[in-house]
Amino acid sequence: MTVTEPAASRAADLLSRPVTINGLTVPNRIVMAPMTRSFSPGGVPGEDVRSYYARRAAAGVGLIVTEGTYVGHESAGQSDAIPRFHGEEQLAGWARVAEDVHAAGGTIVPQLWHIGMARKQGDPPFADAPAIGPSGIRLDGTEGTGRAMTRADLDAVIGAFAEAAAAAERIGFDGVELHGAHGYLLDQFLWAGTNRRTDAYGGDPVARTRFTTELVAAVREAVSPGFPVIFRYSQWKLENYDARLAETPQELEAILTPLAEAGVDAFHASTRRYWVPEFDDSDLNLAGWTRKLTGRPAITVGSVGLDGDFMRAFAGQGSGVQGLDNLLDRLERDEFDLVAVGRALLQDPQWAAKVLSGRFADLLPYDAAASRTLS
Ligand SMILES: Cc1cc2nc3c(=O)[nH]c(=O)nc-3n(C[C@H](O)[C@H](O)[C@H](O)COP(=O)(O)O)c2cc1C
Repeated sequence: MTVTEPAASRAADLLSRPVTINGLTVPNRIVMAPMTRSFSPGGVPGEDVRSYYARRAAAGVGLIVTEGTYVGHESAGQSDAIPRFHGEEQLAGWARVAEDVHAAGGTIVPQLWHIGMARKQGDPPFADAPAIGPSGIRLDGTEGTGRAMTRADLDAVIGAFAEAAAAAERIGFDGVELHGAHGYLLDQFLWAGTNRRTDAYGGDPVARTRFTTELVAAVREAVSPGFPVIFRYSQWKLENYDARLAETPQELEAILTPLAEAGVDAFHASTRRYWVPEFDDSDLNLAGWTRKLTGRPAITVGSVGLDGDFMRAFAGQGSGVQGLDNLLDRLERDEFDLVAVGRALLQDPQWAAKVLSGRFADLLPYDAAASRTLS
């Protein structure tokens, strides 16, 4: 099967349009999704990490969201190979990443991360730090060895995110993304399964959003008004794909509205399959609902370009994985603004260039081995 010229040029036309997030012009609609790679010994992104990101920017990715990078709090992470967003050497490494991506024509934001109760056993430099979370409860509902956050913990974590955001602006990034998805700290507050607090930070969806809202406001305060703040969130959790923060659009609105009002400029709605409708009686996916409810630009994500046979997938005939045509239909009707691509971009650094120029036959099929190298 061949991809027809009109189909290929439609992909190029729709994906190559610039878009603006709080004054930042992203040159096209293709976003690199944040992906933890664990290639930064001592938390320092080095030369190989720089060229990994710059290669994708040079091939046409409009906006890179970096792998999750730990904020400066002792309980934020657990691996010494995952980059940190604090410390002189670490930030100097990141500054060079941003410089190289800009030189290649792309834009880039770091994904700021605190793993909360997902922390099990830590590497240096904070091997002995406790796991902390809203109620000391892990994603699987067990208590483990962690503890509920005190007032001092809440302030310290908010401060760590604000400092990291200020550092991102200072060292030349184009904005920040706050990792509020997949069952990590911010999501642990949003989700009733892990937030059993009886103070002002727990209870109904609005109360569960309070910590993150305060954190967003502190980040907003720490950076210039024109510095974009993106918030990533999800219904699903790493250990629970069926978990939901919101059962209805009204519940979702209750969570997203205070975040938007606190200063979120764009939302990144993480789903595993972008074509799945989020609620009954509408075809809109989670990013679609997010845009409709908040009026903010939205990024969609989830299995874009993952069919091994991309030619069939393009025509919507893949093995359950939807082709690019479904995605383009949604983009064309402004359901969302940007499209994040994870594994397909891990596999193929040239993915964006090939899609933007209609060279679908040259795309490389995804193989999980790609996640073991920094090619
Ligand atoms: C190796 C790998 C690492 C990931 N690390 C992160 C991460 O650090 N932060 C995050 O928000 N999502 C992370 N994700 C999820 C991706 O950003 C993305 O949402 C997911 O892979 C679905 O997109 P895809 O189907 O295009 O791969 C990771 C995914 C993979 C495959």
